[in-house]
Amino acid sequence: MGLAISLPRLRSHIETLSQFGRNPAGQGITRSCWSPPYEEARAWLIARMKDAGLTTWVDEAGNTFGRLGEGAPTVMTGSHIDTVPQGGSLDGALGVLAGLECLHTLREANVRTRRPLTLAAWSDEEGRYASLFGSKAFTGKLDARQIPHFRSADGEALVDAMARAGFDPLEAPKAKCDPKTLAAYVELHIEQGPHLEAARLPIGSVEGIVGNRRAWVTFIGQADHAGTTPMEWRKDAFLGAAEYALAARELVVKRGGGKSVTNFGRIEISPGVSNIVPARAILLHEMRSLDGRTLARLDRQCRVLARAVAKRRRLRVKVETISQSLPVHCSRRVMKAVEAACGELGLKYRRMPSGAGHDAQNLASVTDSGMLFIPSRGGRSHRPDETSDWKAIERGGNVLLHTLLQLAG
Ligand code: GLV
Ligand code: MN
Ligand code: MN
Repeated sequence: MGLAISLPRLRSHIETLSQFGRNPAGQGITRSCWSPPYEEARAWLIARMKDAGLTTWVDEAGNTFGRLGEGAPTVMTGSHIDTVPQGGSLDGALGVLAGLECLHTLREANVRTRRPLTLAAWSDEEGRYASLFGSKAFTGKLDARQIPHFRSADGEALVDAMARAGFDPLEAPKAKCDPKTLAAYVELHIEQGPHLEAARLPIGSVEGIVGNRRAWVTFIGQADHAGTTPMEWRKDAFLGAAEYALAARELVVKRGGGKSVTNFGRIEISPGVSNIVPARAILLHEMRSLDGRTLARLDRQCRVLARAVAKRRRLRVKVETISQSLPVHCSRRVMKAVEAACGELGLKYRRMPSGAGHDAQNLASVTDSGMLFIPSRGGRSHRPDETSDWKAIERGGNVLLHTLLQLAG
């Protein structure tokens, strides 16, 4: 096999990083971008990059980099170290720490690649404030006018969170890269779904990444006394939201071409007490698809559906898009490099799509971008017991190492 990563060192880094933002037992890790535990974890990561002999820097969007070698263009790897609320220890962390381990291994072995290698930890991949924020800024997709409007689902402004962490939010678009300085990007990630484990395959070579549309859907009715108002008089905003959620799910399942999913991740009802008919119900609604045209059509159909439900129930409704991304194809060159690395290591792989969003989808607009997956135990992710076997992690780290060698020469 030749060169190989050190699993004990990678494991110790994964276990240490998992302590930043660790909740009480059984409640996983909450390490939202710009939060104090996130900033502590980022400082820890910079120190580990330095230990590995990398040159480090942080850009205006808070993206944190470490480089091995000089010049341009560079081959990049990385992922994110923020987590969802009550998340697990591998989503994002694996790609960053395995990338760090690959660069550390190469430096220790005095391997000089033709192209320099750069490790990135991208800001707010999970989108507490703005989905894939750091890689959006890096790839020139961040509209400065939007920045003051980005808020978390519980109403905290991005500008306040970034300022608290010592960043000037309005400077973030300056993180935009020069695509000429990039040679390729490859990201290792856990699959976060059940397919590799079910097929007993160690590696997924990612062909494409879903697009996503997120929106607030607000039904507006009339507050009334919940004991005295006749049932047929009521303008119950919650019932509009409930009917819409069930019908939208059916629409996406039946008319999404088998490649689309939908989720309602939050509902807020106000005034929110038992003895008042709900005057307002707000749903956080996302839809994903591997096909951009299907996603656009489902978006239109859901808007029509929301209006029809509102009319039937004598409510008003508004649909406000929060974020939108298009599905992307991964680079054939990166896929071939992943697959050649699997060949060298004698590992079987399957080509597969990603149902999760990843920074690699933004990088695809500026360079050859791709991903590889390792199996997730039980397909579990975005939950405290998200895990993979250490052997699977070692295999993934070694495929990443050999993919970087393929790409960097
Ligand atoms: C990122 O984890 C996503 O929501 O796909
Ligand atoms: Mn992730
Ligand atoms: Mn995630």
